[in-house]
Amino acid sequence: MMRLVSRFFAFNRRLSFALEERLPAGFRHHLHTLYKYQVADLLNRRPHQIVIDVGGGKECPFLPFVDDPGGHVLVALDIAEGELRQNTRVDLRVVADATLSGLPLRDGSADLVVSRSLAEHLRDTRAYFANCARALRPGGTMVHAFPCRFAPFALVNRVLPTPLVRRLIAYLLPEWAAEGNYGFVAYYDQCYYSAIKDMLRANGLTNDRFVFTYYQSMYFTPFFPLFCVMVSYDLLLWALGIRNLASGMLVIAERPAVDAVLPLRPAAPAESPAATELAR
Ligand SMILES: C[S@@+](CC[C@H](N)C(=O)[O-])C[C@H]1O[C@@H](n2cnc3c(N)ncnc32)[C@H](O)[C@@H]1O
Repeated sequence: MMRLVSRFFAFNRRLSFALEERLPAGFRHHLHTLYKYQVADLLNRRPHQIVIDVGGGKECPFLPFVDDPGGHVLVALDIAEGELRQNTRVDLRVVADATLSGLPLRDGSADLVVSRSLAEHLRDTRAYFANCARALRPGGTMVHAFPCRFAPFALVNRVLPTPLVRRLIAYLLPEWAAEGNYGFVAYYDQCYYSAIKDMLRANGLTNDRFVFTYYQSMYFTPFFPLFCVMVSYDLLLWALGIRNLASGMLVIAERPAVDAVLPLRPAAPAESPAATELAR
């Protein structure tokens, strides 16, 4: 019986992939790919940059595309020590909560603050953006990529218990589960365009650029009829360009070279007490 069910889903996925290949290339852009190239591009422009990968987890996905990874100082920060232990290619690994009392480094010290698939897991994304803004040096850049709050898969993810989501992904989308990057508790707090725009303004960040993705139907490939419905929905949003309903977002913003708005705290200690540096 189980084999029959598995074959049913496998057959549905083959149908979904056949349709996927016929979808416009611009529509199918993958957020993770956009992010990797964007961060690598910023690093390749100048040597000796200080980069903080927040929620860095097991790996910094942009590193393979950086011309001289050893020419920069790369810090991975994550709340989960177990994840960070596997992240062996960085200069410094720091266990800390990105939403608490500032990032554990001196204000204004980072050239780049980046994150992929972190914002949706935070209970307080406003605190996180404020921390990132403070960590950036004047003229520094932040890049964040994350799935958005109102995408159908995000609504499902918020309604279902996380252990069930993990089991569904392992069963229905095994190649994703193998990446070991799915199944963290997700809140999607502030994860939509107008809220992000507002946070950038509140933190005095400028020169913002956004890339929106709409193709979230990929989550529904195991059931072809539902995949077709979702593709129609995604294509419609993409054609209309409804940014608040996008399924994913890449946001890039800069701290102005001369601060007009951002109130700076007095110099903080290099590490807050809540942070632990992992031994290499
Ligand atoms: C989906 S994983 C993404 C990992 C990595 N950025 C990537 O793209 O492969 C989310 C990561 O965010 C971390 N995380 C969740 N909440 C956090 C917080 N409050 N502060 C710092 N890291 C957090 C998790 O431990 C996990 O490693």
